[in-house]
Amino acid sequence: MTDDSTLPHGPLSGRTVALCVAGSIAAYKAVELARLLLKGGARVVPVMTASAARFLGPVTLAGITGESVATDMWDASFAGEMHVRIAERADLVVVAPATADVLARMAQGRADDLVTALVLCARGPVLAAPAMHPRMWEHPATQGNVARLVEHKRVQLVGPVSGEVASGDVGHGRMAEPDAILAAVATALSPRDLAGLRVVVTAGPTLEDLDPVRFLGNRSSGKMGFAIAERAAARGADVTLVAGPVGLPTPHGVRRVDVRGAVTMRQALWQAMGVDLAKVDALVMAAAVADHRPAETSASKIKKVDARVSLDLVKNPDLLAEVGAARAGARPVLVGFAVETERGEALVAYARRKLAEKHVDLVVANDASDSFGREDNRAVLVTAAEATELPTMSKSSLADVLLDRVRNLARAK
Ligand SMILES: Cc1cc2nc3c(=O)[nH]c(=O)nc-3n(C[C@H](O)[C@H](O)[C@H](O)COP(=O)(O)O)c2cc1C
Repeated sequence: MTDDSTLPHGPLSGRTVALCVAGSIAAYKAVELARLLLKGGARVVPVMTASAARFLGPVTLAGITGESVATDMWDASFAGEMHVRIAERADLVVVAPATADVLARMAQGRADDLVTALVLCARGPVLAAPAMHPRMWEHPATQGNVARLVEHKRVQLVGPVSGEVASGDVGHGRMAEPDAILAAVATALSPRDLAGLRVVVTAGPTLEDLDPVRFLGNRSSGKMGFAIAERAAARGADVTLVAGPVGLPTPHGVRRVDVRGAVTMRQALWQAMGVDLAKVDALVMAAAVADHRPAETSASKIKKVDARVSLDLVKNPDLLAEVGAARAGARPVLVGFAVETERGEALVAYARRKLAEKHVDLVVANDASDSFGREDNRAVLVTAAEATELPTMSKSSLADVLLDRVRNLARAK
């Protein structure tokens, strides 16, 4: 086995994000955004306008980020120019919430407070998540400022969205949710190296119904496939996610098709790929498709019996093998998953067999206990030529490693 010494990390790990909070009631949501950014691996430098500090205690942001909160660029105890120093540290600046006032100041290129000076000085992407009453948002003055910011192409807006605002009124002006802002940050910090690639991902378990209340299933959580879809979309791919029954939110920018059993997954998969496979450049089959299903699904609940019962099961279609057999040339790139209860050489040997029998380019092999339901994963990437043992890493990071391989295979074909 070989070791992969050039592992990329998740999109946020090792990155520094300056989180600028302005004076809106939505300032409390900046705490959740800070938490999500930290969880994604980012360092967060908190910055607040003077008004923001009247809505949200700076101590809260300092406590959560482990960084002192910058509010006053005239603070003489700070060594150096505060706005320049923070701009140098930050790979990305996000203003969330962005008030009508701070958007106006940004549109004018003003620099009379720390947030606006920092925005002018930023060396990477600047994102702004507006939050205000719908009448403030719709006002021509605000719309003019926003148009100017967008025209400069130096600020990217996230939201606002429609919904209820602090006053209880409903309309356009509510701040985008923190997870949507996080996704926009991850996308802005990701390479667009998968642009033009059409990727289909399957995820989750399949549930095979016995009757209207019972089913046969497995323990797949869907997290690995969802992470692959999320990272592929963030890196610019056109992504369709065929998902078995899981309660996970749809990753941003991903087209999702929900299915239940292996037969419906097969239908959705071929619809997404096209019968001649013309609509897909890469297929990543992360779903744990049941090998068998009940021979019959009862229309009504099967009555309780005291005696021992046996189930009559029939074989499900092997979706991966079907695509492998249908593929005439080298497209689409085909990635399968092998979840087993073995480790080491036995696991690799099993993956190799699967690779050859099903005509797959790459098999991600892992032990069920290292993978199912967890946030991280430990896998071996097996191709005909080599087996690369990866260290335990987040599913998001593993998705990136895998997508690097998919990109290279797609380019080579
Ligand atoms: C209770 C209260 C809520 C406010 N909510 C918002 C808001 O959601 N959006 C907004 O643009 N301004 C809002 N404002 C007005 C801003 O706080 C004000 O324009 C301030 O000057 C913004 O300063 P900043 O942009 O430097 O943070 C609110 C003011 C108060 C007193």
